[in-house]
Amino acid sequence: MLNVAVKAARRAGAVINRATSDLDKLTVERKAPNDFVSEVDRAAENTIIDTIRESYPQHSILAEESGASVTSAESEYRWIIDPLDGTTNFLHGFPQYCVSIALSVKGMVSQGVIFDPSRNDLFTASRGGGAFLNERRIRVSKVVNLKDGLIGTGFPYKEFEKFDKYLAMFKEITQKSAGVRRPGAAALDLAYVACGRFDGFWETGLSPWDVAAGGLMILEAGGLITDFNGDGNYLESGSVIAGTPKLFPQLLQIVQSHHKK
Ligand code: IPD
Ligand code: CA
Ligand code: CA
Repeated sequence: MLNVAVKAARRAGAVINRATSDLDKLTVERKAPNDFVSEVDRAAENTIIDTIRESYPQHSILAEESGASVTSAESEYRWIIDPLDGTTNFLHGFPQYCVSIALSVKGMVSQGVIFDPSRNDLFTASRGGGAFLNERRIRVSKVVNLKDGLIGTGFPYKEFEKFDKYLAMFKEITQKSAGVRRPGAAALDLAYVACGRFDGFWETGLSPWDVAAGGLMILEAGGLITDFNGDGNYLESGSVIAGTPKLFPQLLQIVQSHHKK
């Protein structure tokens, strides 16, 4: 099943890469303020769904642009797809975006693929089987203290009522870490925690397709990931804190101290 996800992600990556030469000609719609979708998102998603259906016509699918489709009412298998994570970056020619595909079985994510088509970086993970970047095993970094950690984040750009709490977290984490970055593609941010490019990450307001594959990748790389309450419910709640085993509790403590106010 991982092979099918990899094939689908690479095909979608080819669709995305082809489109980068003619960004000006793309049709772009605004789904909501600051939330865009282009014909490339849709074409990549169709490619992924077609590839999965070739092998698993009975599985159900949850995909960002087409929503949920349940082929067989009882299917225990559900593919969770973000065909282009980081659309705003992509539309500006800013090369930080990815394809994210996860498979959940009986509600538990068991396979994950994140593909960065501009760098040809392929991240994969299988539950109990470890996490890999371009077929080499990856682990989270060995960073212990927040002051030595490079931390990724995402800004709340839709739910502005959350902004003040977010800014308080941002201020404290910026002061207490080695640096904070907002690259703009949440799934890829999580893959970066898994391979040690980031030592921690936090964001709220995410969707299941942003975090399903990356969450598994972090766990399989020896890291920790929870929602803002410290529970494993991040797929539903959309809030995420992740990091190395030692750094994670320091990040959780700061995020919670502002979140609960
Ligand atoms: C977005 C990106 C971004 C995150 C947003 C997501 P999209 O996904 O992952 O980094 O901050 O919350 O919605 O819309 O580009 O697929
Ligand atoms: Ca996304
Ligand atoms: Ca997307």
